[in-house]
Amino acid sequence: MCGIVGFTGNNQAAPILLDGLSKLEYRGYDSAGIAVRNGEAETEVIKEKGKLKVLAEMTNDGKAVKGTCGIGHTRWATHGDPSAVNAHPHSSDDGNVIAVHNGIIENYQEQREKLIKKGYSFKSQTDTEVAVKLIDYYYKKYSNEPIEALSHAMMRIRGSYALCVMFKDYPGEIYCARKDSPMIIGIADDESYVASDVPAILKYTRKVYYIGNMEIAKLEKGNVIFYNIDSEIIEKPLTEIKWDAASAEKGGYEHFMLKEIHEQPKVIRDTVNSVVKDGIVHFDSVTLTDDEIKALDQVYIIACGSAYHVGMDLQYVIESLTSISVRVELASEFRYRDMKLKKNSLAIVISQSGETADSLAALRLAKDKGIKTLGIVNVVGSSIAREADNVFYTLAGPEISVATTKAYSCQLVAGYLLALQFAKTRDEIEDISYTKFLNEINTIPEKVEKILEDKVRLQWYSNKLVNISDAFFIGRGIDYAIGMEGSLKLKEISYIHSEAYAAGELKHGPISLIEDSTVVISVVTQDKLIEKTVSNMVEVKSRGAKVMAVTTVGNYFLEDTAEFVCYIPQIHSLFSGSLSVIPLQLISYYVSIGKGYDVDKPRNLAKSVTVE
Ligand code: F6R
Repeated sequence: MCGIVGFTGNNQAAPILLDGLSKLEYRGYDSAGIAVRNGEAETEVIKEKGKLKVLAEMTNDGKAVKGTCGIGHTRWATHGDPSAVNAHPHSSDDGNVIAVHNGIIENYQEQREKLIKKGYSFKSQTDTEVAVKLIDYYYKKYSNEPIEALSHAMMRIRGSYALCVMFKDYPGEIYCARKDSPMIIGIADDESYVASDVPAILKYTRKVYYIGNMEIAKLEKGNVIFYNIDSEIIEKPLTEIKWDAASAEKGGYEHFMLKEIHEQPKVIRDTVNSVVKDGIVHFDSVTLTDDEIKALDQVYIIACGSAYHVGMDLQYVIESLTSISVRVELASEFRYRDMKLKKNSLAIVISQSGETADSLAALRLAKDKGIKTLGIVNVVGSSIAREADNVFYTLAGPEISVATTKAYSCQLVAGYLLALQFAKTRDEIEDISYTKFLNEINTIPEKVEKILEDKVRLQWYSNKLVNISDAFFIGRGIDYAIGMEGSLKLKEISYIHSEAYAAGELKHGPISLIEDSTVVISVVTQDKLIEKTVSNMVEVKSRGAKVMAVTTVGNYFLEDTAEFVCYIPQIHSLFSGSLSVIPLQLISYYVSIGKGYDVDKPRNLAKSVTVE
């Protein structure tokens, strides 16, 4: 969602802020702004509605704004429409306090009214301006002391925030405060950075600190001091980010999404190799004991969006390999339901960003209810990774395209490995089958490569879909779970209405929507269910539908029913999802570019959904 960048050092801040913000564009935004300070001089604030290039033009790529300390922001409107006045940074009435903010301040109305009674006035409709003026109020009350001002404001604010603040009396310093909104602090020689996400600062440093919830940081040139809410100094470990800067660039591809689709063989291999050594899965970071795994009788998989679809697939895999029953829950539903969680259960929270507000809240709820938690997370040091009892890191690297592809694929193989290891620990799988399954998982990267070689045919077929208005995805079991992901991919980047149905459900309603030329994409890889799904394909075809199929090499008879068939290599049906999803990713990509859309940054969407 919104993006934050801050810098203090010896170099000019504005070009660094604009560059950093450009690396966060993928998160989604509708206005942008920077505030830059040159020593003791007044702070210059430039903000405007629209894309960053507007800001770049206004400032001659930042060169027209002088100063070595500054903060910048890309805003995704929540309170108040996208406009220059609502854009960040926001300032106190006297310009003493200037800040940018990510998150949502839930009690902003109440605080606003109190501040109005104390003589404050408001220019914007934002919750951020309320936070700025609240900080200003405490700043004046507590003898112009930034840490005191921030900690008192934090005690009054309900909601989530990553705040970066500059105080007029403290040139060259940036003060940060955080609760439930991501923020990292980077450090290099004589330079300090703050950002809401790693790609913004990766070019400048890989040495970072993770600021915790309800903590404050003071950034000076090349130095950071951390404080708790009681204004006491606290120590934090310095961590090194392993992602290299090139992995956050397009690397010759036209779009991040296409690049990330092509990275899948490598990142799946990396994720598998991170835990498989000498033919055995070793989970160093998963500290569940063998006894705990043996006692498990229930797993809850909790996630949002595509990560939820990973859970939908994994439920079949886990239930097939073990005697553990699985429930898959949308985090946004789970958190508000009074579910009776079983005692011997495990909550697996899946999240690329590790910051999705609903998933984080669900994780906390599961912990409060006393059950063990495990995060399958991509972003190192993210909130879910830090708060879960156990973490399995996927090694997808930075995923920039809003529509997930490579992180999804890594989550899926991470889940296969977990399921397999659970089965082994519980003596529910023979050694020979364990090795056979592990070997199958090891073949996924090369098989994904093979599918990618067929992309020209998929592009040709996708061009026929550019002008359709509806699509239906059907399948059974794992194929249904993959259809859900294919459907989401298509709708989110090409704005075509699409729905996924369990093929057996068609007759219970949706078949009435099938008419001449309705597109039905069927996923047909589950040996035991092929005939059943083919019957459903025939049913829709006889009502005029144009049917496409994704199936396994050898099922050539599907060409009798489908007008276009994409074949995936043979694989054990439990793991077919890792292959059948690839053509669906490519189809949505090609349809979106065929329609001329901004495939990496679809409208209204944000990469990391840090508010409810
Ligand atoms: C769709 C997509 C989203 C995310 C969802 C969860 O392509 O990317 O549906 O899967 O917002 O995000 P994370 O995995 O960061 O929790």
